[in-house]
Amino acid sequence: MDKKKKLRSSEWFGDDGKMGFVHRSWLRNQGYPDDYFEGRPVIGICNTWSELTPCNGHLRDFAEVVKKGILEAGGVPMEFPVMSLGETIMKPTTMLFRNLASMDTEESIRANPLDGIVLLTGCDKTTPSTIMGACSVDLPTLVVPGGPMLSGRFRGEKVGSGSMNWMIKERQENQGYSAADIREAEVCVARSIGHCNTMGTASTMATMTEALGLTLPGYSSIPAADSRKKMYAQLSGRRIVEMVKEDLTMSKVLTRNAFENAIIVNAAVGGSTNLIIHLTAIARRIGIDLKLEDFDTIGSKIPLLVNMKPSGKYLMEDFYYAGGLPVVMKELTPLLHKETITVNGNALIANYTDAVCYDTDVIAKLEKPFQDKSGIAVLRGNLCENGAVIKPSAASPKLMKHRGKAVVFETMEDYHERIDAPDLDIDENSVIVLKGVGPKGYPGMPEVGNVDLPKKLLAKGITDMVRISDGRMSGTAAGTVVLHVSPESTVGGTLAIVENGDWIELDVNERTLHLDIDQAELDKRKKAWIPPKPVADRGYVKMYIDHVEQADQGADLDFLVGGSGSKVERDLH
Ligand code: FES
Ligand code: MG
Repeated sequence: MDKKKKLRSSEWFGDDGKMGFVHRSWLRNQGYPDDYFEGRPVIGICNTWSELTPCNGHLRDFAEVVKKGILEAGGVPMEFPVMSLGETIMKPTTMLFRNLASMDTEESIRANPLDGIVLLTGCDKTTPSTIMGACSVDLPTLVVPGGPMLSGRFRGEKVGSGSMNWMIKERQENQGYSAADIREAEVCVARSIGHCNTMGTASTMATMTEALGLTLPGYSSIPAADSRKKMYAQLSGRRIVEMVKEDLTMSKVLTRNAFENAIIVNAAVGGSTNLIIHLTAIARRIGIDLKLEDFDTIGSKIPLLVNMKPSGKYLMEDFYYAGGLPVVMKELTPLLHKETITVNGNALIANYTDAVCYDTDVIAKLEKPFQDKSGIAVLRGNLCENGAVIKPSAASPKLMKHRGKAVVFETMEDYHERIDAPDLDIDENSVIVLKGVGPKGYPGMPEVGNVDLPKKLLAKGITDMVRISDGRMSGTAAGTVVLHVSPESTVGGTLAIVENGDWIELDVNERTLHLDIDQAELDKRKKAWIPPKPVADRGYVKMYIDHVEQADQGADLDFLVGGSGSKVERDLH
């Protein structure tokens, strides 16, 4: 940093008059010496800890460890809370609140005397929400990912937190699981502190964060309960103080190439489809133009290097012991942009040259991948004018090209009411079409795209069918599930006018999704279509419905796209 460049915090604390008095005086009720803030970078620890976000339940302890590192390096730590989004508890869906939490983060950072930021994150949305908010301010920022749970076992079977839940209905039907069995299983799965231990959305987000260059290298795959997780938290605290001195802001790290790296790495680890929406929203906050097609053109030719649930066999703890993300990064060296800068100040690949793989059944060599192609396929066609996505590695090969008759559910409630009706006209070749679960429709775009199959087909041993919706799917789920149909049905996309018995054609190889009715009929139905009434007429939900963008744009609020920097022009007196 230019020696003469003043710390941002000195605009609060460096004043010898009335305003300096005001800013310092009240803080000193905590017992700080009068020179405490002089020339020391003030580091905001943005904490998503909450007892209502169990995946982040350990982050209060972690904040103390980060503080140690900040103090060691000569900084001043200042921890503050932001809205925390607990995936398994918040209704109707945490996605409704991702943009709200990002606003909380952005405004909390900008309004306060902070020079650098550490984001403490864990559960799915706590990562993109805080990164989005921090991007719109663009201070030096480093992420401390909370880490996954240890692997659990239920009656000898290795079970993943965030994958067992998708087996419950099937096991109740086919293996006679009782309520007591379920109580026993649920605690076995939640083995330790940390977030879901599959390559679900939380692990995907942590991996993305490291691939973007926003964590210390090697940090994202360490389990929450591993002592090395805390060690890295302390090192992160030390490092952010240096980053402030170097003025290593987010926009210097988050280049177009960094985003391309994140897409490549996500494909290689078999990451969640939710990455598309979150990475797009983050890119738009920092001013990088990322298109839906980029995920396909960049990601879909990348081989799958990681054998992890939900696509494969292992859990994050196994991944870490096999060498973790550093091994994947090293393997991907020929495919990645090597010179992107990371928060430790080094070029990306320089961080990983010493990585060693200890188990090639968990992390494959680039020459001998688990699958030749991974990533996400972006579909086009009259049923998704602005695109839709599918994760081929989580789908059934035999359904990747499929023509079937639509069985339509107008809303999630309609689905719940009728899916198990004995007289429902449905078989394994049908295509389940679910409407009304897009960003504006639900609202918030819940993770319901991978709806359970009807009981009568599960009883026949059917485990997968083509399902199409404008919703999302949990990163821990699998199936031949077409997601993020845009425009969503609630705003009158073609999805809105699909009727029972219509033929639908999916061809993942050709990247097409087609509703097989003639154009005149399609136009006629669209003309007659009546938009559903918005589900809220006040409060945040109304603001969300009025301003949320479609999935292919990242589902941010339109007025939040971009950033306003860190400058605050006006004072409080
Ligand atoms: Fe929090 Fe899965 S529920 S990460
Ligand atoms: Mg999830």
